[in-house]
Amino acid sequence: MPLFLTFEGGEGSGKTTQIQRLAEALQKRGLPCVLTREPGGTEIGAEIRKILLDSKNSRLGPLAELMLYAADRAQHLGETIRPALRAGKTVLCDRFADATVAYQGFGRGLDLQLISDLNELATGGLKPDRTFLLDLPVEIGLARAKARLARQKSSEGRFEAEAHAFHEKVRQGYLRLSQEEPGRFRVVDATLDVEAIHRRILQEVEPLLEAKP
Ligand SMILES: Nc1ncnc2c1ncn2[C@@H]1O[C@H](COP(=O)(O)OP(=O)(O)O)[C@@H](O)[C@H]1O
Ligand SMILES: [Mg+2]
Repeated sequence: MPLFLTFEGGEGSGKTTQIQRLAEALQKRGLPCVLTREPGGTEIGAEIRKILLDSKNSRLGPLAELMLYAADRAQHLGETIRPALRAGKTVLCDRFADATVAYQGFGRGLDLQLISDLNELATGGLKPDRTFLLDLPVEIGLARAKARLARQKSSEGRFEAEAHAFHEKVRQGYLRLSQEEPGRFRVVDATLDVEAIHRRILQEVEPLLEAKP
């Protein structure tokens, strides 16, 4: 099986920036890869994404939110991720199952076992080969994310509108996950500049490419 790599971290931690840089670097080496994201890695998922991220949907409840993420993920696995892996393509995914543990579990306080069961159901047990956790203080990430939303006149600010305490719980949740699975996670200091983070990630990915041609 080709590589399945995921990028995780809070708002504005640089996931989208870094996943694009990595995709370019891998494509330059002639490695076929698919860059995708959650929510929204399929046409149907894009509809689900609108519901989940639109700041006008402040009334969306935690359980409905959890189930929409699970629905998006089930569709994404079936329509995008598994077919790409079967076709021999490296899959780079901007947020995946860990995000649901961090946001809906640690952030919203929903039952972690329920989330784990839903993730298992949606993914069929598929785990990333490596997960890059871009870690940085909440206030720095939120400031970056809010500036980007304003610049792009984007309406996808539902999570950015959450309190600082929520984002702090998400950050701590992600760090806990990284401690539970140190073999899969690589925690990267996301306060570094874009180029330094890219080099750090590439250093981690290169040996995997050799091991899994
Ligand atoms: N290492 C970095 N240092 C400073 N700013 C960054 C860095 N990485 C990304 N940014 C900027 O911060 C904003 C959020 O980055 P983005 O990649 O969209 O984060 P995410 O996808 O994790 O929300 C963007 O405007 C981006 O240009
Ligand atoms: Mg992003």
